[in-house]
Amino acid sequence: MNKDQITIKLLDSPPPYELLLLADPSTKLVNEYLSKGETYIALMAEETIGVYVLLQRDDKTREIKNIAVAEKYQGNGIGKMLLDHATSEAKEKGAHTLCIGTANSSTSQINLYQKKGFVLSEIKENFFIDNYTEPIFENGTQAAHLLMFSKKL
Ligand code: ACO
Repeated sequence: MNKDQITIKLLDSPPPYELLLLADPSTKLVNEYLSKGETYIALMAEETIGVYVLLQRDDKTREIKNIAVAEKYQGNGIGKMLLDHATSEAKEKGAHTLCIGTANSSTSQINLYQKKGFVLSEIKENFFIDNYTEPIFENGTQAAHLLMFSKKL
């Protein structure tokens, strides 16, 4: 795969729900993030292969929501490209901190975020139990707590 062919831009077409729901199974929460944040997509030969939403938490803090790469393209460094892009965008918008949250059970995502310089900053206990109607399991572990990772820009 030639990553030079990938462009990342603001969404100007209907939201790619199939991708967005890979990152968060709640359509209600996805719609909330879409309405509050700016949505960026990664395009390759007119195919949408990645997405993330950049949300403003306060004057100095942005948060990445709903980051996802189409399954057949995962593991090729596109997730890292999206994280780098979000970092540049947040910096350009004047943020001092960029954060991202994931479940205690999402081990590859936890590794990825730490590799890209995010540091564990907060644990929201029982977030997934309290906010989702169905229990979520990954690799046999229940998603219970929300781990927040932050990066100084
Ligand atoms: N299995 C295990 N580890 C993987 C895999 C995989 N299939 N794919 C990526 N990784 C890990 C590796 O550690 C890799 O690091 P390395 O290249 O140094 O070995 C690292 O992730 C980065 O890989 P990328 O290829 O850049 O990541 P990718 O393009 O696959 O995107 C993403 C990562 C967005 C997490 C993708 O796998 C995905 O869409 N997953 C499903 C949706 C999801 O869970 N989104 C995050 C939810 S949390 C939130 O949105 C805030």
